[in-house]
Amino acid sequence: MTLPYAKSDSYKIFNSIAGRYDLINTVLSLGLHRIWRKELRLKLPAHNEQIVLDLATGTADVAIELIRDPRITKVVGVDMSEGMIAIGQSKLRKLQLTNRIQLQVGDAQKLTYTSDQFDAATMSFGIRNVPDVDACLREIYRVLKPGGRGLVLEFALPKSSVMRALHLFYLRKILPIVGRILSGHGTAYTYLNQTIEEFPYGENFVALMRNAGFKNANHRVLTFGIVNLYWGDKA
Ligand SMILES: C[S@@+](CC[C@H](N)C(=O)[O-])C[C@H]1O[C@@H](n2cnc3c(N)ncnc32)[C@H](O)[C@@H]1O
Repeated sequence: MTLPYAKSDSYKIFNSIAGRYDLINTVLSLGLHRIWRKELRLKLPAHNEQIVLDLATGTADVAIELIRDPRITKVVGVDMSEGMIAIGQSKLRKLQLTNRIQLQVGDAQKLTYTSDQFDAATMSFGIRNVPDVDACLREIYRVLKPGGRGLVLEFALPKSSVMRALHLFYLRKILPIVGRILSGHGTAYTYLNQTIEEFPYGENFVALMRNAGFKNANHRVLTFGIVNLYWGDKA
């Protein structure tokens, strides 16, 4: 399957749909994205005063979910798209969270942070968009403190053949049309369904985490397998 965009250019799509991203996200996920973010937060390490890095932070919804957890002191959000960061920043101003959540433009494959800094690092629906998944996982591992936890939320395909067929129908036939109407963007949501179908999930993605160095790497299936939550710890 040929993608309408190189993955290295995906942030440009997000720049062009940034103003409508939150609405589209809610409509296309039927509001389930809130449940998935909560599941991610519940899998954070148990201790207090954590500093968390949120990669591909987009419009900062994950960062906002994380900072509401009493265990979290500060969140640093990083994204390649200036447009998405700008929307996130205005949400943080309205919520008076700019002192606790810091947003920065940056590439998850080449982080500018020194090693061993963060108690946890999260990436929601972002790693599918980066050209070099292994480099990204190695960077997540590098910036975690020893004992820190990496957490990834990503789309997957259901195991049950009936659910899988239904979901593929949704991804191929419904999502591109609704996405095009809501975003006004011709191919953004064709890109989305193609990248979901091609991306490794389940044990295949867990193996990539192990290769990057993560210990106790594992995953949990959410919402019939349309999304997976992955986690792994730094030794
Ligand atoms: C589907 S959005 C997810 C946003 C947010 N995490 C959420 O769950 O709503 C994917 C994000 O990945 C960002 N992105 C793409 N490539 C990236 C890279 N190499 N480094 C950092 N962010 C990247 C895009 O700009 C976009 O904001």
